[in-house]
Amino acid sequence: STSSEEQMYRPNFHFTPKKGWMNDPNGMFYANGYYHLFYQYYPDGNKWGPMHWGHATSKDLVKWEEQPIAIYPDNDKYIFSGSAVVDVNNTSGLGTGKMAPIVAIYTLHDMTKEKENKIDVEQQDIAYSNDYGFTWQKFKEGNPVVKNPGIRDFRDPKATWDETHKQWILVLAAQDRSQFYKSKDLKNWEYLSDFGKNIGAHGGVWECPDFFQIKVKGTNETKWVLIQSLNPGGANGGSGTQYFIGDFDGKSFTLDANFAKRVEQEKAVWIDYGKDNYAGVTWNNVPSADGRRLFIGWMSNWDYAQDVPTFVWRSSTTIAREIKLIKKGNDYSLISNPVKEINKYVSKTIKGKSLKGKGKLSILEAGKLDLTQAIVNFNLKNIKQDTYTFILSNAIGESLTFGINNSEHYLFVDRSKAGKNDFSEKFASSITKAILDGNQKEGVFKIILDKTSIEIFYNNGEKVITEIFFTNQPFTSLSVSSNEGVELSNLLINQLNI
Ligand code: FRU
Repeated sequence: STSSEEQMYRPNFHFTPKKGWMNDPNGMFYANGYYHLFYQYYPDGNKWGPMHWGHATSKDLVKWEEQPIAIYPDNDKYIFSGSAVVDVNNTSGLGTGKMAPIVAIYTLHDMTKEKENKIDVEQQDIAYSNDYGFTWQKFKEGNPVVKNPGIRDFRDPKATWDETHKQWILVLAAQDRSQFYKSKDLKNWEYLSDFGKNIGAHGGVWECPDFFQIKVKGTNETKWVLIQSLNPGGANGGSGTQYFIGDFDGKSFTLDANFAKRVEQEKAVWIDYGKDNYAGVTWNNVPSADGRRLFIGWMSNWDYAQDVPTFVWRSSTTIAREIKLIKKGNDYSLISNPVKEINKYVSKTIKGKSLKGKGKLSILEAGKLDLTQAIVNFNLKNIKQDTYTFILSNAIGESLTFGINNSEHYLFVDRSKAGKNDFSEKFASSITKAILDGNQKEGVFKIILDKTSIEIFYNNGEKVITEIFFTNQPFTSLSVSSNEGVELSNLLINQLNI
């Protein structure tokens, strides 16, 4: 029934609309004390349908408040994914008052043309807000701002201010590549270049790109990052999000030479190796004094998103994450970690001494703390050529396992015994793996748990795995097992109250 679904599955702190279907996060920006989050939304059903932009706001990226729907479709013209910028200097001329206008750019998807098998199904339109993002008007007289050039899949524009070249830039997904455009006024866009044909993963159509400049942690050097989702063809099947690191001269994006080698070796570099982090993009206009690059993803996968056993609502977002760029030797990579604001909500802490022993060891016994809203931290020390299996379990014998296989050097998550999974063949048919860079000696784990999700941040966010699950009772305990013995230190389990 509805109430047991609410109790069992409605996340404690990951955003989900009160009712209806949600997919991609859209149009995120910060203004006037609020982080705004829009999302692909169908309010009248629990499967994908006529797309609206739903809306939620937060003061701290953790606690979200649902707002009225922001943008509605016109009959068969759906409002697909896109972005929003704060037009601080009113370059668009769409500002009518004292506040900077917010300009959203999104894909208008014409369902009639789709049914007629036309090519020019998708174009980029804008809408604007003069009250910092709460109410919106479509730019009727000026749309489209980017016409369809004869490419069927031509969508998901992400606009950003490019401070280095003093221009608005826009990246969108054009079937098997990303395309770059520039503008002075957000209304007239000039094509610049494209990137990605034959580079990286191409198991499916490219969607939802993001493009931004970022400082290399601890230096003044900057690089450009292209985030590029695709479906299918993700790291562990279905939807997934890869990224590229390189340089941008105001016109073209060129891959960093060492990163190019890595892409060749690994076929693609992923922002998350789990099955449930898709279409994620970053916030615009985060104050420069803050300087963070903040990311959120859709915590599901097109392989089964429409079949998961929630019925009142479907899907939530990931925890908001801070992305940083690090350099080791000559190699750049992104790391992601949960936003620090989550730590404000710690309500109870269990600090374990270090734990050492053979066989199956209990890390947390049932009843000690609520694992449906918790952060679990520990270091796995002295890692041998062995497999270390961590087991989340409940009183009815359901379990989710994760850990490290250090003979074959990968992290894993196995949700095949973690409750309901018969709603889709693809949901639990394979163990999720994230290949590690060789032999591990010590591993640092940070794990975020909500009712239906696990987000594993390994080695300070160098490898991330995000997955959802649907147990019939909450997990209550955590243990670990290995053949040769386990050594844990810095064990810290924080219960949250959000
Ligand atoms: C990605 C996506 C986007 C599109 C939207 C439609 O999940 O397919 O490419 O804009 O969803 O809802």
